[in-house]
Amino acid sequence: MLRLSLWVFLLLNLAATLFSSDIYSRDDFPPDFIFGSGTSAYQVEGAANEDGRTPSIWDTFTHAGIVPGNGDTACDEYHKYKESNHMLHYTIVIYHRHSKMSMEDGKDFTLYADACFREFGDRVLYWTTINEGNIFALAGYDTGMMPPLRCSPPFGFNCSKGNSSTEPYLAAHYILLAHASAAQLYKKKYQDKQHGFIGLNLYAFGMVPLTNTTEDVIATQRAKDFFIGWFMEPLLFGDYPNIMKKNAGSRIPAFTSDESKMVKGSFDFLGLNHYNTLNIKDNPSSLKMDHRDLAGDMAAELIFMQDDPSAFEFPSRPEGLQGVLEYFKQAYGNPPIYIHENGQRTQHNASLNDTRRVEYMKGFIGSLLDAVRNGSNARGYFTWSFLDVLELLDGYESSYGMYYVDLEDPDLKRYPKLSAHWYSDFLKGRSTHAHGMIEVEKNSSALSHAHFVQ
Ligand SMILES: *[C@@H]1O[C@H](CO)[C@@H](O)[C@H](O)[C@H]1NC(C)=O
Ligand SMILES: *[C@@H]1O[C@H](CO)[C@@H](O)[C@H](O)[C@H]1NC(C)=O
Ligand SMILES: *[C@@H]1O[C@H](CO)[C@@H](O)[C@H](O)[C@H]1NC(C)=O
Ligand SMILES: *[C@@H]1O[C@H](CO)[C@@H](O)[C@H](O)[C@H]1NC(C)=O
Ligand SMILES: *[C@@H]1O[C@H](CO)[C@@H](O)[C@H](O)[C@H]1NC(C)=O
Ligand SMILES: *[C@@H]1O[C@H](CO)[C@@H](O)[C@H](O)[C@H]1NC(C)=O
Ligand SMILES: *[C@@H]1O[C@H](CO)[C@@H](O)[C@H](O)[C@H]1NC(C)=O
Repeated sequence: MLRLSLWVFLLLNLAATLFSSDIYSRDDFPPDFIFGSGTSAYQVEGAANEDGRTPSIWDTFTHAGIVPGNGDTACDEYHKYKESNHMLHYTIVIYHRHSKMSMEDGKDFTLYADACFREFGDRVLYWTTINEGNIFALAGYDTGMMPPLRCSPPFGFNCSKGNSSTEPYLAAHYILLAHASAAQLYKKKYQDKQHGFIGLNLYAFGMVPLTNTTEDVIATQRAKDFFIGWFMEPLLFGDYPNIMKKNAGSRIPAFTSDESKMVKGSFDFLGLNHYNTLNIKDNPSSLKMDHRDLAGDMAAELIFMQDDPSAFEFPSRPEGLQGVLEYFKQAYGNPPIYIHENGQRTQHNASLNDTRRVEYMKGFIGSLLDAVRNGSNARGYFTWSFLDVLELLDGYESSYGMYYVDLEDPDLKRYPKLSAHWYSDFLKGRSTHAHGMIEVEKNSSALSHAHFVQ
């Protein structure tokens, strides 16, 4: 999860947005489209060990908490509702940014991946090597907001070590090489026997120009190149976008021709995490600075628009997801995509009547449907998240879960929020219109009686 506090935040009023897929059902998606809910090995293992009770409407939900360390784990069994002869689909993220493993040694990573493929390959169909590779490089090495907390003044958040001008580029480079090396190994040694797929995960903002001036439109393209092209162009064409090479100069590493060949084409699918849309404003003055970080090289301001500055929830701009999927379709040849994370945050102690989360999910799944109908190769969607716990343990006051978990209760009792009922109904094939919010609410009368212990 990215805790969004990147660069510039500007507050503007947002017009209400109407989107076309407002009334839809599970059956409007292709039958093999996968729906699920993201969670982490940590939180589910903890709850499962101490609880053992599976909430009834999720009784088909099991988890694949089989990765050593703290890989994100998501699995889909919801399509059991539709298929008797089902197959499990697991995503296991091999590398997570909280891991202590050194990214700079591609050999270690490949050995580690080899062990994962060998031990779990009989149960895992979808391997994701790296979670949010672009955010790992940016937040870990430019702004220093996330582990390993590296940055250099005047950039970032008061880190004790690092170099914001060079290290984000190096980190991304090693991530790409480590991913490609693991993918090469999987394809050579395991794929024929295990019949799985390998890919990596990127964080994808929606991006739209702040104004329709040529400058902002070009800046928006530049921001897409710096966020997404940074990884996608090496993965598709074996090299970084020209604009990055131009603006970062010798600070962006060059691929040798062997590396370029290894990276090019080294994925079967992409995982994307998407939550928000940014408005992009040209910022040419940053290129005049002698010392620049990646944001300076991008020469664009990223503006997060919020109609209500005091709101804890994300503004819901569902068309952003369709925009992202259209962009991958048109700029990158429409690769198979799984939305690994998408969800709304609320305060962890807020009501179980989480209508803002339901509106968010309804909007984004509708936007996803619009994209699929227009030819996007999106094949799956995992809402973030199943339970609240992870964010709580992280010490954040936000929650993303469809289930509230009572941490004071020795049984770690889970309370379904309205969103859990809504998603369950959607997965069972009910139309978002015919059985709308009102009926879901009526049926969830427990919502109004539930209260929290703290
Ligand atoms: C920066 O970090 C140092 C060392 O951790 C600390 O002493 C100092 O107060 C911090 N400065 C700011 C502005 O946070
Ligand atoms: C970061 O690395 C660049 C290139 O080696 C160097 O010019 C610059 O001084 C370094 N910055 C810091 C803060 O160490
Ligand atoms: C820019 O133009 C597009 C297409 O005409 C329009 O949908 C959008 O609202 C415009 N954006 C702004 C900020 O005016
Ligand atoms: C929820 O928590 C926040 C922050 O800890 C607090 O300000 C707020 O009053 C709490 N709300 C309720 C309903 O307990
Ligand atoms: C639908 O796809 C076509 C062809 O790729 C594209 O030109 C068009 O902009 C897309 N429509 C939307 C709403 O994204
Ligand atoms: C509400 O409950 C009734 C009776 O159990 C059931 O027939 C109906 O499908 C439910 N509706 C929703 C939206 O869950
Ligand atoms: C849930 O909240 C909505 C509006 O936020 C309200 O209209 C509805 O009555 C609430 N439902 C329950 C069961 O409290």
